[in-house]
Amino acid sequence: MNARVLPDTEALARASAELVLEAEAAAGERFAICLTGGSTPQATHRLLASDEYRGRADWSRWHVFLGDERRVPLDDPRSNYFNARQSLLDHVPIPAGQIHPLTDADQYEGLLRAFFGEAPRFDLLMLGMGDDGHTASLFPGSVSLLESERWVIAPPDVVQGMSRLTLTLPALDAARRTVFLVAGAAKADPIRRISAGEQLPAGMVQGAEWLLDEAAAAGLAPV
Ligand code: 6PG
Repeated sequence: MNARVLPDTEALARASAELVLEAEAAAGERFAICLTGGSTPQATHRLLASDEYRGRADWSRWHVFLGDERRVPLDDPRSNYFNARQSLLDHVPIPAGQIHPLTDADQYEGLLRAFFGEAPRFDLLMLGMGDDGHTASLFPGSVSLLESERWVIAPPDVVQGMSRLTLTLPALDAARRTVFLVAGAAKADPIRRISAGEQLPAGMVQGAEWLLDEAAAAGLAPV
């Protein structure tokens, strides 16, 4: 596992905000970033929107996508788009037409195909990992993990009473740079299992960098 360990969640947020700006600097005329849901990236978002960081990004080049979504209205607090707006998108001058909420699998796949052409090469794909090793809305044991053609699907599984939309492994694997943001002691176990070679969804994403806080990194195999 290509992992970097940060002492705490604040250091993790700072390292990830710097990584976002680094990926932005490496991108061409447009910076295509795919955001994730979950709580961990919200601190990164807030830092990017802060007085300290806001002036360092060229927001006019940003094109923002979402990697997964709960099928709830866009103003529902369970919506990843809603949370990204609260922590970042409402506070920075990204042109409205360059922010792409995920509301329908076929429509989103069409949008991605029109934007990217043959493969969704996000300049930066941000991901999180659940305590069970899921990422985006790809859960352990789901048939969604077998999808090989589609880039965006509505998985057949209903998790916590909620249906979802998600990018698939082929879409996630196409990103130019992928980073997992993972924090907390509850993540040490899936980190341990992935480091040991178990095929949990998060570990199936190719070529990712991992930013871990020390609590999550407790699961890394000793070097
Ligand atoms: C979501 C996610 C999901 C998330 C993980 C980790 O919509 O919930 O995209 O895959 O990234 O569950 O979440 P935390 O950062 O809250 O641990």
